[in-house]
Amino acid sequence: MSTTPSRPLRPIAIIGGTGPAGMGLALRWARAGETVIIGSRDRERAQKAAQAIQQAVGTDATVSGMENAAACAAADILVLTVPFESQASTLKQLKPAIGEGSILIDATVPLAAAVGGRPSRPLGVWQGSAAQQAAELVPKEVSVVAAFHNVSAELLGGDDPLDCDVIVCSDDPDAAQLTRELAAKIPGVRPIDGGKLENARIVEQITALLIGLNIRHKGHAGIRITGLPPAAYK
Ligand SMILES: NC(=O)c1ccc[n+]([C@@H]2O[C@H](COP(=O)([O-])OP(=O)(O)OC[C@H]3O[C@@H](n4cnc5c(N)ncnc54)[C@H](OP(=O)(O)O)[C@@H]3O)[C@@H](O)[C@H]2O)c1
Repeated sequence: MSTTPSRPLRPIAIIGGTGPAGMGLALRWARAGETVIIGSRDRERAQKAAQAIQQAVGTDATVSGMENAAACAAADILVLTVPFESQASTLKQLKPAIGEGSILIDATVPLAAAVGGRPSRPLGVWQGSAAQQAAELVPKEVSVVAAFHNVSAELLGGDDPLDCDVIVCSDDPDAAQLTRELAAKIPGVRPIDGGKLENARIVEQITALLIGLNIRHKGHAGIRITGLPPAAYK
């Protein structure tokens, strides 16, 4: 019997993957042996970002860079890490490239900064949350999951284990489970089933509080949920 861990069949495409959040996730997943595609509006920028991840992780990493639409077409696990103000336009533009049956993991946080306000204030979204807005904009057979809002991109981009829980919300239990498995590949992260997609509203708003705490105390705040049985953190 072979002891070599098999390569995952499905690559993870990170749309808007050249920013700190996308790069941090790409780095951690590449280190964990996942196949990662970094998406960008600009193919060259994506390829440069992929090279940087490859250099950081080493030759074992399987990372490539593509223009966002090509990245969507090449993967069925999509992670969206664009600023909230460009979330809707990005999804509308990419819709034809997103395959039915794909999973879209939305990490965008609606902050008042998107309309000239403070980054420490949440922005109201008509649909309830950025993730619910995303669910309205993707093709019908695409499952939307909300996750990774409360993780510091700066810490993700480093080498140390994180001290943070990731609350995962979705109306599709299988997509949520897959997302929790991906979260668990980040050292120090405990994934938690956060229930339905509508709960993303609360999880997204926590980020505004964390940003306020970071400004006040000069840190990289995360969250830990205590008091649940071990089975909750899977
Ligand atoms: N930073 C954090 O600690 C953190 C943590 C959790 C969640 N988040 C959320 O994750 C998302 C990304 O955060 P970030 O700090 O990485 O953001 P960012 O650097 O501002 O943006 C990420 C990428 O989005 C693309 N982008 C920028 N403007 C765009 C536009 N108008 N249309 C389409 N694409 C555009 C850019 O890639 P290209 O120019 O290469 O296309 C950029 O590198 C945000 O919604 C944020 O709220 C952030």
